[in-house]
Amino acid sequence: MYKEIVDFIKRLYKTESFIPLHSPLFIGNEKKYLEECIDSTFVSSVGKYVDKFEELAASYTGAKKAVVCLNGTNALYIALKLVGVKEDDEVITQALTFIATANAISYTGAHPVFIDVDKETMGLSPDALNKWLNENAVLKNGICYNSKTGRRIKACIPMHTFGHPVRLEELIGVCKKYSIELIEDAAESLGSFYKEKHTGTFGKIGILSFNGNKTITTGGGGMLLFNDESMAQHAKHLTTQAKIPHAWEFSHDHIGYNYRMPNINAALGCAQMEQLDKFLKSKRLIAMEYEKLFKDSSIGFFKEPKDCESNYWLNVIILPNKVERDAFLKYSNENGVMTRPIWQLMNRMPMFKACQTDELVNSFWFEERVVNLPSGVIQI
Ligand SMILES: Cc1ncc(COP(=O)(O)O)c(C=O)c1O
Repeated sequence: MYKEIVDFIKRLYKTESFIPLHSPLFIGNEKKYLEECIDSTFVSSVGKYVDKFEELAASYTGAKKAVVCLNGTNALYIALKLVGVKEDDEVITQALTFIATANAISYTGAHPVFIDVDKETMGLSPDALNKWLNENAVLKNGICYNSKTGRRIKACIPMHTFGHPVRLEELIGVCKKYSIELIEDAAESLGSFYKEKHTGTFGKIGILSFNGNKTITTGGGGMLLFNDESMAQHAKHLTTQAKIPHAWEFSHDHIGYNYRMPNINAALGCAQMEQLDKFLKSKRLIAMEYEKLFKDSSIGFFKEPKDCESNYWLNVIILPNKVERDAFLKYSNENGVMTRPIWQLMNRMPMFKACQTDELVNSFWFEERVVNLPSGVIQI
């Protein structure tokens, strides 16, 4: 079966050369817009593309405002600061996520708490969240505290794993019940919709990543999505050194950050946004091909959750156990097809070992079985 899969992927990508997991594709106005930046010398903090990219992303996602920054990790950090996360608070996220989610929580001085994921979404489980809060949280004057540690539980960050939306409505309900701010880590889910609404627009703030391996890229880049315009304005202010606008004076009213995305990266983003629909179409076709391949197999293909449209950022197969997972990883990587296991659970890392968790039953299950297959756009 392993050979059959590898041969299938080579036929799908029409090559005998090495097939990466997800490489970017530049087939539109990328060179034209980059040349324009270079010719005009506006490659850095001034230029028209930053505003344009923010407008394009807000219009596509349906967010009221979008604010670009240097990457998804600092977008998460700013989001946490904006909802008021402070040192020694607790912030809940899923154990099965990319390290950036947990790192961003740590940058604020807060303590991450790792909760289990759903079998149907691979993202934070509202049932597990509700259970953990039921056992550990108390509300005092509308503020949620951990009854065991005494710390404030300020925010929760579900992540849309590999582009598959989490059960947002239920998560929103649980967070509301416990007065916890919801931030969506939508780094992987540009082009994914939950009940026809774009991921990243349900929580108080959502974030996107435009790293080179994502559905579209700006080289490196991130974005904050807002429904609240004044919060977006504050984000823009904070990410641009908190400078008070003035023709020549240098005056600043906060400790700000130099997180502004350069115009040259935003130019790439504008050109890539023009390709997004085409890219998503291709990715869906690839996912359908994989789904057919694994239809009657002992290897499962992970499909988009109910009521959701996934971007199928990275396609997922579920091997029967860890031994088979490792054997397939070895075979495919030795035969020119890049495949990857899912991330190790956050609570396995030395810096997060002491963090609170629940039983993480589904997280452990996925950790042993998931393999990502090549999912980059195929030019038709
Ligand atoms: C789930 C998740 N969160 C956050 C990030 C951080 O994004 P960036 O690499 O742009 O900092 C990434 C990806 O790279 C991610 O996959």
